[in-house]
Amino acid sequence: MKIVVTGSDGMLGCDLTLRLRGRHSVIGVDIDDIDIVNKDVIDYLIGLKPDFIFHLAAYTNVDKAESERERVHNINVCGTENIVNACKRLNIPLVFISTDYVFDGKKETSYNVNDNPNPINFYGETKKEGEEIITTMLKRYFIVRSSWLFGRNGKNFVKTIASLAQSKENIQVVDDQCGSPTYTRDIAVSLEKFLSSEKFGTYHITNSGTCSWCDFAKKIVLLSGKKTAIIPIKSESLTRTAKRPRNSVLNNSLFEARFNYRMPTWEDALERYLLNE
Ligand SMILES: NC(=O)c1ccc[n+]([C@@H]2O[C@H](COP(=O)([O-])OP(=O)(O)OC[C@H]3O[C@@H](n4cnc5c(N)ncnc54)[C@H](OP(=O)(O)O)[C@@H]3O)[C@@H](O)[C@H]2O)c1
Repeated sequence: MKIVVTGSDGMLGCDLTLRLRGRHSVIGVDIDDIDIVNKDVIDYLIGLKPDFIFHLAAYTNVDKAESERERVHNINVCGTENIVNACKRLNIPLVFISTDYVFDGKKETSYNVNDNPNPINFYGETKKEGEEIITTMLKRYFIVRSSWLFGRNGKNFVKTIASLAQSKENIQVVDDQCGSPTYTRDIAVSLEKFLSSEKFGTYHITNSGTCSWCDFAKKIVLLSGKKTAIIPIKSESLTRTAKRPRNSVLNNSLFEARFNYRMPTWEDALERYLLNE
């Protein structure tokens, strides 16, 4: 199969292209190749004649997004519309990676795919608009909401905590936001399953299990063999530009049932990541 991956140089893009290469003909497309905001990307993609597109390219800096709204909207909304138009003209399926940040975090239990999005930050708003373009314009799509990604190629929470633990005696981390950390290599395994499926729709895919950022940090320190103390704090005491949902837990059960596959736990994923496996 000939597959295009947009955002192929990003954190998830690297692991997804690595996973698919060898079994498929994979063409990575990133900002050095073409800007997805530019309408020329439509003819560019049509010229590549893919059978399938994974659309991962996005503006992903959640805090900076609050002050760069036009740029974020152009990339995450207009850029996505261009990719959708290419899929429509090619008559091929699209996989779009969305986020837990489409939800407001007020729900007491995990979010199901049919729960109403209500983003509380601008990044989440643009990802929601991207989803809406897809569901309106395409029939054959997979929208995948995931959360708290960590992977080898890119800045992430695991790298930050592991690096701080080298020199600090204690680190303050919020304990009032819950979610599911997700290893990019693990979600790449799940995403590959869509290539041989007609079970289109919206799915939640994260590593199994949940924790707070504070629990996550404690496990990173423990598995790194450090003695750094993790001090729990509340979100109000942090001055972050963008709001974050208190509850980011996504319910994977639809994906698990339809694809007969359960994602590994986040603890197992973290251990493999830190062991470089
Ligand atoms: N990270 C998370 O925790 C998380 C959670 C849930 C969902 N997601 C979603 O998962 C996807 C992958 O996330 P990620 O963390 O792997 O993102 P990432 O590392 O930021 O990768 C995104 C890639 O897209 C490229 N890009 C940005 N603007 C572009 C444009 N106009 N044209 C072409 N390429 C462009 C980026 O290039 P530059 O680096 O040069 O900008 C980067 O290589 C995104 O759609 C994101 O919204 C992420």
